[in-house]
Amino acid sequence: MRPLPGRWVYHRVQDEGGIVPFDEVRLPPSTQGLHYGTAAFEGIRAHTAEGGGAPHLFRVRDHYLRFLRSCRLLRIDVGLSADELTDVTVELLRRNGDMGDVYVRPLAYKLGLLPGTPPGVGLSGISAAVTIVVNRLGSYTAPGGVRCLISSWRRPSHAAIPVQAKVTGGYVNSALAVDDARAAGYDDAILLNDAGQVAEASTANVFAVRGGTVLTPPPDADILPGITRDTVFALAAELGLVAVERPLHPADLLLADEVFLTGTGVGVTPVIEINGRPIGAGEPGPITRRLVERYRQVVRAEREDTRRWLTPVDPGVPDRSRGELVERPA
Ligand SMILES: Cc1ncc(COP(=O)(O)O)c(C=O)c1O
Repeated sequence: MRPLPGRWVYHRVQDEGGIVPFDEVRLPPSTQGLHYGTAAFEGIRAHTAEGGGAPHLFRVRDHYLRFLRSCRLLRIDVGLSADELTDVTVELLRRNGDMGDVYVRPLAYKLGLLPGTPPGVGLSGISAAVTIVVNRLGSYTAPGGVRCLISSWRRPSHAAIPVQAKVTGGYVNSALAVDDARAAGYDDAILLNDAGQVAEASTANVFAVRGGTVLTPPPDADILPGITRDTVFALAAELGLVAVERPLHPADLLLADEVFLTGTGVGVTPVIEINGRPIGAGEPGPITRRLVERYRQVVRAEREDTRRWLTPVDPGVPDRSRGELVERPA
């Protein structure tokens, strides 16, 4: 499924920002972030309930807190708090009108050299910009599961690149790995870290299920500790499952009863084959299926007890977190 951008975006250069038409944002070819990968981003989903209606953003504040941490690392001062970014996003979604399920892409990037800054790569003395684009995007992974290739590209060590942050430059690694996997007829790549242990997929965390225990690599395995991964820990606990963070080797995946991926883009997606070998019975396993269903219920606002993770985008409804009425946009 192709992402379809909304008509309005949020655009901010240094201290000045606002919602403007998509086509009005023009970046100079000198944009530093393009040259050196000095940009930070997030991926946030908003889902409608089954059958339509206004969408709910999923764990938007957690995403913006991670965004601000990534930006701090790049010395980008966004100028807005996580709450303010959330408000801007809600307003942006309202302005774009009914788009169904959406994927929100905030991007903060180094723009141009400030007076007195010498040319070349760097992080200081460079202006910054923030753009938030919303895309219509439903589920794009096959519900029947995906086939993965263990990549010959290694996930870079945290000593080389801060892999815990979503910094664009680091994603050349994901791009190379996923491109190889697709060229070989697979859907996604699973990358090992420098120590030869399982790290993660190109843009998702990896879980294995063995004997009813849910296993996933720990944060120091050079993973991006995902917000969906964290959600799955909570959902697994509800099912009475023990979830353990421990180093995994490629054989742990090949020998697992079930393997699945978690990420904002892919949600919870079964892996049915790795390197041409079926995982378990070669179809989504029972624990994966239960987690997929629980995750669906949470993000589609079917559960009351997990509403704390959701931010509604209903036009003109009271914003309870601030106790004020948010006006319907003109
Ligand atoms: C490299 C990488 N790992 C893992 C994830 C999953 O993180 P999350 O569940 O927060 O989307 C993502 C996607 O954001 C990613 O890009």
